Amino acid sequence: PVPTRLVIAVDGTSGSGKSSTCRGVAERLGLRYLDTGAMFRAMTWWLLERGVDVHDAAEVARRAGDPEILSGTDPRGPSITVDGHDVSGPIREEQVTEAVSPVSAVPAVRSRLLDLQRRVIGDGGIVVEGRDIASVVWPQAEVKVFLSADPDARARRRAAEQGGVDVAATEASLLQRDRIDSGRATAPLTMAEGAVHIDTTDFTLDEVISQVVALAEAVEAPR
Ligand code: DC
Repeated sequence: PVPTRLVIAVDGTSGSGKSSTCRGVAERLGLRYLDTGAMFRAMTWWLLERGVDVHDAAEVARRAGDPEILSGTDPRGPSITVDGHDVSGPIREEQVTEAVSPVSAVPAVRSRLLDLQRRVIGDGGIVVEGRDIASVVWPQAEVKVFLSADPDARARRRAAEQGGVDVAATEASLLQRDRIDSGRATAPLTMAEGAVHIDTTDFTLDEVISQVVALAEAVEAPR
């Protein structure tokens, strides 16, 4: 048993296995699940739909308050809507993946989504994945995990997930996103103080899930 208001913050590089790990941990522990990357993707999808140049930071900032973004928290069926439309499929498409890092670097986008993220986390009982969860969004999280994996392993997993795509091109795209996400001025991808680093390269998904579950079970319930 784990404390019911527990917050598990999971940050890490693109393709390190965050989503599968977090969903598995949430299911095993009966917790909610929030994919903050999906929120940045939803914002990016909405901007692209409206023809906004995602490299025009001033314009992106001006529009950042407009879309209504709602995240579901069921680990068995994560859902996300923008202005009432389910965008779970479209946010995984190539154009969004290519544009999401520059959009995520815009401070107005981050502060808008930060408010939404904190509201969803609320009283806890949730596994939250992203890039800045333990450092910025919820530094008080009882469990902080930083996931990484060799770029080669990450690219092979991603390519296998998506079926038939080129491994070298996938690796280049992952590394490019890592560079932008780690290099930005506001809330860059970083391993927060107190985070437990798990390199997932040589572990199965189940093994990684078990390691995170063990960290959660080691947290003392408040008396
Ligand atoms: O986890 P993902 O690949 O779906 O995330 C997509 C992008 O969103 C990622 O390249 C960086 C950004 N992101 C972020 O800046 N902060 C977060 N907490 C989560 C994602």
